[in-house]
Amino acid sequence: MTYFSEILRGALNRRDLFKFVGLSAVLYVVPTYGRSKTLTYKTLYPNSEDRVMVPEGYDYSVLIKWGDPLDNGPALNWNRVHEALTEEDIERQKHCFGYNCDYVGFFRLDQDRALLVVNHEYTNPELMFSNSGPTQEQSKLMLYAHGVSVVEIKRDGGKWVYVKGSTYNRRITGETICYISGPAAGHELMKTSYDPTGTFVKGTLNNCAGGKTPWGTVLTCEENFNSYFAGDRNTLPDDLIKRIHKRYGVPSSRSAAYGFHNIDNRFDINQEPNEAFRFGWVVEIDPYDPSRPPIKRTALGRFKHEAATTVVAPDGRVVVYMGDDERFEYVYKFVTKGRYNPNNREANFSLLDEGTLYVAKFKDDFTGEWIEIATVDGNTITVNPDLPDEFKNDPVLCFINTRGAADALGATKMDRPEDFEWNPITKTLFLALTNNDRRGTSGYPSTDRANPRGPNYMGHIIEIMEEGRNPTATTFMWSIPMLCGDPNAEEENKKLIIYGQPASSSVPAISAPDNFTFDKEGNLWIATDGNPSSRRLGKNDGVYTLNMQTKEFKMFLSGVPGCEICGPEFSDDYKTFFCAIQHPGEGNKPTKWPYLGDGVIVPRPSVIQVWRTDGKEIYL
Ligand code: FEO
Ligand code: CA
Ligand code: CA
Repeated sequence: MTYFSEILRGALNRRDLFKFVGLSAVLYVVPTYGRSKTLTYKTLYPNSEDRVMVPEGYDYSVLIKWGDPLDNGPALNWNRVHEALTEEDIERQKHCFGYNCDYVGFFRLDQDRALLVVNHEYTNPELMFSNSGPTQEQSKLMLYAHGVSVVEIKRDGGKWVYVKGSTYNRRITGETICYISGPAAGHELMKTSYDPTGTFVKGTLNNCAGGKTPWGTVLTCEENFNSYFAGDRNTLPDDLIKRIHKRYGVPSSRSAAYGFHNIDNRFDINQEPNEAFRFGWVVEIDPYDPSRPPIKRTALGRFKHEAATTVVAPDGRVVVYMGDDERFEYVYKFVTKGRYNPNNREANFSLLDEGTLYVAKFKDDFTGEWIEIATVDGNTITVNPDLPDEFKNDPVLCFINTRGAADALGATKMDRPEDFEWNPITKTLFLALTNNDRRGTSGYPSTDRANPRGPNYMGHIIEIMEEGRNPTATTFMWSIPMLCGDPNAEEENKKLIIYGQPASSSVPAISAPDNFTFDKEGNLWIATDGNPSSRRLGKNDGVYTLNMQTKEFKMFLSGVPGCEICGPEFSDDYKTFFCAIQHPGEGNKPTKWPYLGDGVIVPRPSVIQVWRTDGKEIYL
């Protein structure tokens, strides 16, 4: 009997879906695009080859990889690190490019020079080291392989090369002092034995995606920060601390692979119960000024931050769109109180400390609402009156336990919100929901119109049109331009649907959309993180493009076994496309990439650059 009820449920879901996509197509407002012919390249298809592939007429190279020196010293001795690392290797990692590059941001310096800001999300000890561990030495090296790199690049013919020893080059690691600003600074829960003021913290961790501000800083997002904390939550004496840590998955069994608690007791929650509150933030870094410390901007809320995309509203206020990447978590935005000052860079440096934090509710009629959580105005915090007394009595909890506040306000639980990008042509937002294999399964939330597939193996993309296309609006309309999948999949909930239409069999399959960027024409570029799973495509991850004018969908780049692709970013002349090849070889998917003939025996996460061999803009 269960079998028949499942079939019935599936049929209802399908009917609902078709009804939904029909409406969705009506709701979608077709924008006016300037050019009739873009993205003329011949599509690739998902594959399992151990090489990076780009279409005919394009070429690529590795720009910088894990262990490349940012100073004038030697590269990391990768083979020695792999076999038996030394104190010298730990020291070198502080000055060399970190592991698992994720977000990539391009910042222009002058005609032939620029800065790249690159996140180093996490490390893979099983790939970095031959022996099982981690030893304390391995843990130390891994802590320094986390964080962010700022690196100067310069033109060398049609390509870019990175500049060793540039005064701009900078490594921010799991130990670099960051300051805490905004409402949570100095709060009791932010104090530890090494920082009794609650205003500074050693390091930034699990920096996943990010964004750029109009005043030329980068916002780097601390995502799965819980992975580094060990200990026993049940024996913590404070009930509030216990509850918040539980909501954020602190401690985590993944901490065993990093072993940070073996080298520093701040990662042991029984010794330092508050240290974990000092992670899970958006961190602002000025790539142009290496002397300016990173600042954790607590007004933007605390969760597993994936993206931080800023848009300047018509009245000059700045809006930051953010996702919390975990199953059944929420999407947020922050609207500054102050206005962007294009004539005085310095005047913008405290903009992100005051304003209103909202969480999204997606309604079944394809409208939505931004529910206010709290507003910071000087030293005053006003909280949503619908919040429980706990938040009214201590308003700072809205920022430290943002998930708890959003739970209480009835926000919509989404299928892992990843990147969030603003289409400059349509003035609409695109949100990646990467996948959620628990949606609709026993004991978990069922499907809804905004998360219509259960289980959602393939992920989907939502487009949001703010009322009046004004990012400060508190209401919006939404639609689903893409339900990801394989046009040739047998299962209905794994098929690729684009703007409500099933894709033809010749369209490349895609799953697990993660990071986005837009080109000058407003075409959507999508990097994926999850194709290799046997539940999805069982093929390498890649970069895809959705032509916004023709609705053609193609695969632009495919990665190597085990990697995800992240950080899609164009140079400002659109002649170079940068992306990160993260964790090549992960998940028992052996790779020899990047094949540099230097005798190194371990795969190395890298930022690559792609260019057209005729020297024209990438998107033509
Ligand atoms: Fe680190 Fe949500 O990807
Ligand atoms: Ca990501
Ligand atoms: Ca990811």
